[in-house]
Amino acid sequence: MIEKIKDDVFYVGALHSDRRLFDELIPLPDGTSYNAYIVKGREKTALIDAVDPATINQLSSNLKKLNIKKIDYIIANHAEQDHSGGILYVLKEYPEAKVVTNEKCKSMLQDLLSIPEEKFITIKESEKLELGGKTLQFFMIPWVHWPETMATYLIEDKTLFPCDFFGSHTATTSIFDSEHFYLPAKRYYAEIMSPFRSNVRNNLEKVKKLDIEIIAPSHGIIYKNPELIINAYNDWASDNVKNEVIIAFVSMHDSTKAMAEYLREAIVERGIDVHYFNLTVTDIGELAMTLLDAATVVLGAPTVLAGIHPVGAYVAYLANALRPKTKFVSLITSYGWGEKASEIVKNIFTNFKGEFLTPVISKGYPKEINFRELDRLADDILNKHKEIKLL
Ligand code: FEO
Repeated sequence: MIEKIKDDVFYVGALHSDRRLFDELIPLPDGTSYNAYIVKGREKTALIDAVDPATINQLSSNLKKLNIKKIDYIIANHAEQDHSGGILYVLKEYPEAKVVTNEKCKSMLQDLLSIPEEKFITIKESEKLELGGKTLQFFMIPWVHWPETMATYLIEDKTLFPCDFFGSHTATTSIFDSEHFYLPAKRYYAEIMSPFRSNVRNNLEKVKKLDIEIIAPSHGIIYKNPELIINAYNDWASDNVKNEVIIAFVSMHDSTKAMAEYLREAIVERGIDVHYFNLTVTDIGELAMTLLDAATVVLGAPTVLAGIHPVGAYVAYLANALRPKTKFVSLITSYGWGEKASEIVKNIFTNFKGEFLTPVISKGYPKEINFRELDRLADDILNKHKEIKLL
């Protein structure tokens, strides 16, 4: 698939419609795309980002359809293999090409792909590369996604190629259809960008100084209305949380489930929205999206095998790694003969800077005293949400 972005600027990327996991971790319900771009100057031609090796045939075919006989520069914005893996194949087909990137990315590309030293041209912050009537300028945007990541700005066409930044995992063929951008972009932000919130903010400020008409990331939708995705990022990267609670639970014999159901009802009765996840059937991408907004997270997991249920531990570990802006965390748990979950959960949430609310612990199936404790937890959550002016 080829799409014209501007005169002599083309999308030549690849769709990976049937990919269902990224990094063997992140669910991709709509697949993904690896966007790559050709910029043709009067004298030189540049390819911006390559594609995942699994889809190299699409890039190769697009370059042939466009009748690209020579590539002078392969711009490597990011060393992760879904954009860099195809570079080796492009270098085989276009042996005269040089890989243009920053020093850190070069080092990573050598580690990951063993690209020889003589193939590189290294550039620094704000440096320009002339193609003849088309000028590329490079800006470092560290940690969106890796420390070496940079954005390429095409000055004459006011087009920004920010690689992972502003991306979305969708294998859509309607690459300019930003009308439906929100959910795929939010899911992507939650899964990929949310651990780097302060870096996202810094890089947003940097990007806002540029005069941008088009944002062309290396995954998913291309934006002809850049304010759409920039405003969404402003919101997601802010400290703002909503009057929402996540109840995410796993239950072996329905004790923890009974607590989760009761707590859901109690919280809703207090005027707070609840996102309710049974972790054995939950898409963790959906859960990650709600972590962008919810003020409070309540994990539900029983004690098993002298520790917390592994599914609960996995989700707690993942939530901690995503560094959500959650203000309050609590636990509902049940046990048979020895309670361990509450201690373990606190030890997992090492990145959490908010407040732990007193957990509710039930020996066996919850009884009247436990339901009163769940009412108390619902009241605690209500009071905390009032304290931070969510209602
Ligand atoms: Fe799309 Fe960090 O790679």
